[in-house]
Amino acid sequence: MLKIKDLNVSYGQHQVLEKIGLSAVKGEFIGIIGPNGSGKTTLLKTITNVLKPTSGTIMIDGTNIEKMKSNEIAKNVAVVSQVVSINFEFTVKDIVLMGRNPYIKSSESVEDINIANDMMKKTNIHFLKKRLITRLSGGELQRVIIARALTQTPKILLLDEPTSHLDITNQIEILNLVKKASTKGMVVIAVMHDLNLAAYYCNKICLLRDGCLISTGTPRQVLTPSNIEVAFNLPIEVMHNNRTNSLYVMPILEPLNEI
Ligand SMILES: Nc1ncnc2c1ncn2[C@@H]1O[C@H](COP(=O)(O)OP(=O)(O)OP(=O)(O)O)[C@@H](O)[C@H]1O
Ligand SMILES: [Mg+2]
Repeated sequence: MLKIKDLNVSYGQHQVLEKIGLSAVKGEFIGIIGPNGSGKTTLLKTITNVLKPTSGTIMIDGTNIEKMKSNEIAKNVAVVSQVVSINFEFTVKDIVLMGRNPYIKSSESVEDINIANDMMKKTNIHFLKKRLITRLSGGELQRVIIARALTQTPKILLLDEPTSHLDITNQIEILNLVKKASTKGMVVIAVMHDLNLAAYYCNKICLLRDGCLISTGTPRQVLTPSNIEVAFNLPIEVMHNNRTNSLYVMPILEPLNEI
């Protein structure tokens, strides 16, 4: 469904992504991990054609995104950005319904409204429906933006630290919801800082460092002490959780009195 080949991206003279290759098939949940400034957001922005690569290609279902109109890209790819600021006085319902914009010709249909309502219920924001977007908490706003992206019914969902403002219950609920969508065929590519949640939810993890993909594979292949030490300069211990059959990553901390 998604094929990225030899992608190089620069801001002016500063090369930020180097020779990135990545492919995703229907139903995959891919985690992008890496230190601050390693190029994760830049990669997501390039996949939506917001940033043009200096070289390389991004194909969605066999079509180069350079050749796709923005409306066509929006039917295929939805994004939940790392930083969201909406200063207009829209209601929550208005914002979520905007997810249908790529499909609406004159005015929204009953189906559009039903999809938006359904997603507001699934993301636990239906009770906020009539509230102004400018008067929400950070976590409420983040769930609204996720609801809007799901309302877009994309083939590929890009999430940039989707749970950074959410309490632990909402983190799990949102990631469960997104995981369920991926098992129904949607490709999910999520930038994640929580390595344990990445290990639990992702089929595939891509580890970025200084704009280069230094490891790609299953959580077991990528989340090794040596890879994490190289990328984050941090010693870790990796354990196995038998109940969930996933990995646990723990930083090896010094006793507090030795810091
Ligand atoms: N608009 C911009 N102009 C110039 N340089 C930029 C711009 N945006 C990002 N950069 C630089 O590109 C590099 C990668 O940034 P990016 O935002 O992709 O990192 P990231 O991996 O998402 O980091 P974080 O975990 O902090 O969100 C950084 O060195 C950053 O300073
Ligand atoms: Mg970022």
